[in-house]
Amino acid sequence: MSALLDVRALTKRFPVRGSERRVHAVDDVSFTIERGESVGLVGESGCGKSTLVRLVTRLLDPSDGRIVFAGRDVGVIPPAQFTHAPERRLIQMVFQDPADSLNPRFTAFDTIAEPLRRLGTPAQRAALADHVAELADLVGLPRELLGRFPHQLSGGQQQRVGIARAIALRPRLLVLDEPTSALDVSVQATILHLLAELRDRLGMSYLFVSHDLNLVRLLTDRVLVMYLGKIVESGRSEEVFDRPAHPYTRALMSAVPAPDPAARRARIALVGEPRSPIDPPPTVCRFHGRCPDGVERCTREMPVLRPGPAADHLAACHFGFAVGAPAQGSGARRSGGEPAA
Ligand SMILES: Nc1ncnc2c1ncn2[C@@H]1O[C@H](COP(=O)(O)OP(=O)(O)O)[C@@H](O)[C@H]1O
Ligand code: SF4
Ligand SMILES: [Mg+2]
Repeated sequence: MSALLDVRALTKRFPVRGSERRVHAVDDVSFTIERGESVGLVGESGCGKSTLVRLVTRLLDPSDGRIVFAGRDVGVIPPAQFTHAPERRLIQMVFQDPADSLNPRFTAFDTIAEPLRRLGTPAQRAALADHVAELADLVGLPRELLGRFPHQLSGGQQQRVGIARAIALRPRLLVLDEPTSALDVSVQATILHLLAELRDRLGMSYLFVSHDLNLVRLLTDRVLVMYLGKIVESGRSEEVFDRPAHPYTRALMSAVPAPDPAARRARIALVGEPRSPIDPPPTVCRFHGRCPDGVERCTREMPVLRPGPAADHLAACHFGFAVGAPAQGSGARRSGGEPAA
C-alpha cells in the first residue's frame, strides 16, 4: 500500500519585499508518512518547520513539488477549493499557542462543534451535543467546562479543546506544530501523554514538530532533521538519536541529556550564525561555516541525502557515514578523506 503522505521535492520561496530575491524557506524536501506512523520534525528556529507543515496542511501554496495524500495530489488544489475537498477533514492541525488559535468568542463547545457542523456527516450533526461530549471525554476535558470561553480555561485545558477540535472529524493525519511549547512544563507532560494515547487509540499518523528532542524521541517512530530549508538527516528515531550521522544532528543530540551516563556525549557547541536563507548558493553545503567538520569540498558541492548502513537512515553530508569516523566533530575527517559508503 502506498504511503499516507508522500511529499516530493517540495519547495517554498517567499519574495523579499522590493527585490527579486527569495527566502528559500523549504527547499526540495521529500519524505513519506505511513499509515499509523508518527514522524518528528526537528531543527532550530527559522529552519522552515512551520512553513513545511503549512504546506502539508494547505494553508500555504507550494512554489514547487508535490504533496500526495492517500493517493491524491492535494498540492494542486487551490486553498479555497481545498476547504471542500474530502482530504480537508483527514488532515488536521494542532497549533502551537492554543490561546492564539482559539476564537475568543467561541465557547469550548462551539469550538469543538465547529468542524462537525461544517464538515461532519449528517449523523454527527444530528447528535452534535453527544459527539462534543464524547470528544471532551476523549481529551480529558471535564464536560462542565464546555460552556466556558478560552479566557476562562487554563493553557492545558485550552490545548485539550484545540486537540478535540482537531480530532473531531477523525483525521488520518494530525499535524502538531510545537503543541506544548506554549504550556507550563508541568502541563506539557499530561498533554504529551494524551497525544500518545490518542494516537494509539485512534490509529492516526502524526507529523510532530518540536525543538524538544526528548519529546520527539518519546512520541515518534521516525525523525526528520531540518537545517535551513533542507532535510539533512532522516531515519528511525532510535537510530538517529543513537547514531546521528550529520554533524548538525550530532550537535543537536549532544545537547540532549542521555538517561544512561555511559552513553552521555560531550556537548558540541555550534558557533556562529546560520547562513542567510535568502538565495543561498546552490553548490555550498548550508551548514558550512558552522560545521566543525567542514572542508573546502563543502563549499563547491552541495551534499545530497544518501543512505547509511541502517535501513531508512539518510544523511546529507559528504562524510556522514564515513567508516571509522569519530563520534563527533573532532576535525579528524579533515584529513580522513572520503566516506566509504
Ligand atoms: N510569510 C513569510 N514571508 C516571508 N518569509 C517567511 C514567511 N514565513 C516564514 N518566512 C521565513 O521562512 C523561514 C522559515 O520560517 P519558519 O517556517 O517559520 O521556520 P520555523 O518554524 O522552523 O521556525 C524563515 O527564514 C522565515 O523568516
Ligand atoms: S558536507 Fe561538509 S559542511 Fe556540510 S555537514 Fe558535511 S562536513 Fe559539514
Ligand atoms: Mg515554527
